[in-house]
Amino acid sequence: MPDKGGFPHYMLKEIHEEPEALRATVEPRIAPSRDRIILPDVEISAAQFRALQRIKIVASGTSRHAGLAGKYMIEALAELPVDVDHSSEFAYRRPLLERNELVIAITQSGETADTLAALREVKARGALSVAICNVVQSTIAREADAALYTYAGPEISIASTKAFVAQLAVLYLLALYLAQVCDKVKNDFVRHSIAALLALPEKISAVLKREADVAGIADRFHTASDFLFLGRGVHYPVVLDGALKLKEVSYIHAEGYPTGEVKHGPQALIDETLPVVIVATRDPNDADSMLRYEKTLANLKDIRKRSGQVIAIANTGDDEIRRATEHAIFVPNAPELLLPMIEIVPLQLLAYYIAVRRGLDVDRPRNLSKAVLQE
Ligand code: BG6
Repeated sequence: MPDKGGFPHYMLKEIHEEPEALRATVEPRIAPSRDRIILPDVEISAAQFRALQRIKIVASGTSRHAGLAGKYMIEALAELPVDVDHSSEFAYRRPLLERNELVIAITQSGETADTLAALREVKARGALSVAICNVVQSTIAREADAALYTYAGPEISIASTKAFVAQLAVLYLLALYLAQVCDKVKNDFVRHSIAALLALPEKISAVLKREADVAGIADRFHTASDFLFLGRGVHYPVVLDGALKLKEVSYIHAEGYPTGEVKHGPQALIDETLPVVIVATRDPNDADSMLRYEKTLANLKDIRKRSGQVIAIANTGDDEIRRATEHAIFVPNAPELLLPMIEIVPLQLLAYYIAVRRGLDVDRPRNLSKAVLQE
């Protein structure tokens, strides 16, 4: 019988298990020479991967948000187009599947009925399938052509946290592996990326050490009735999941939105009562990241004129953000496509502490279940 290990809730325990979940998921896929990704547990050949023209990802809830981040990773590194679909939509819209297409089913439990239905639709059409799953030998892991496991350990809390971080890691590993076998990246880049991946657990631990800062912000905002979460690029799926976490455990209505789109409508919602969480991290070694950051900083300053309730997630040492808003949570730097695994942690903690302040059953939110076994 799992236990809370001294934590008040499984959700908090599982957030604190994220550094270990990452290590356990990443390390078996790094060649001993630390300059190559290996996928020893995937019975799909490099030649089959090289022949791919397109990838489809099907998933539900938090797993689909991981898939959306995976789209940015795979398209950026392997230059393969990726479509991401809600499992409950995909299975019932007679999807178009072309030759040389891979379908990835992402599922923590491996039992979600909608995702299983989507996978069975794909297999009926003869397409190649891989399951990214956290439960070994679960139904979806068994029925896919191959399983690429996350090793996050059992996730008890209904809100998915450590499994999400591990899913992001597996998607990054897959993106890098595809880039490697398709000769899209040089050895140096792979070596540098592996070193950055292996440095992530320590960086997440550093964020967890600042947990009290997040709890303080939760105290300040736990009575709000709505939240808006904003992020650009690969940070957009992160804010989608930050909003979902808050909805799931605190019952506060929250919406994740692309930062650049806020002027096309959601801006009408912004006033002194609406807390706006904005991910404003950046990778100084990535020109596109810096361009997105500059635009995000301008958005943040603009929103600040309408709402004093801006909560920024930014990188340590970013004085621009410190000057721009009173509420900020600072996280360590990392390459752009790895930042989601760090910046989601304060958002998970924010949802957790707000739910606790509201006196709710954090691990078993009303109306929800860990795996939805009916379509
Ligand atoms: C929901 C869970 O029921 O199912 C979410 O509350 C989860 O946390 C979603 O993301 C999908 O579940 P799975 O197991 O397919 O990842």
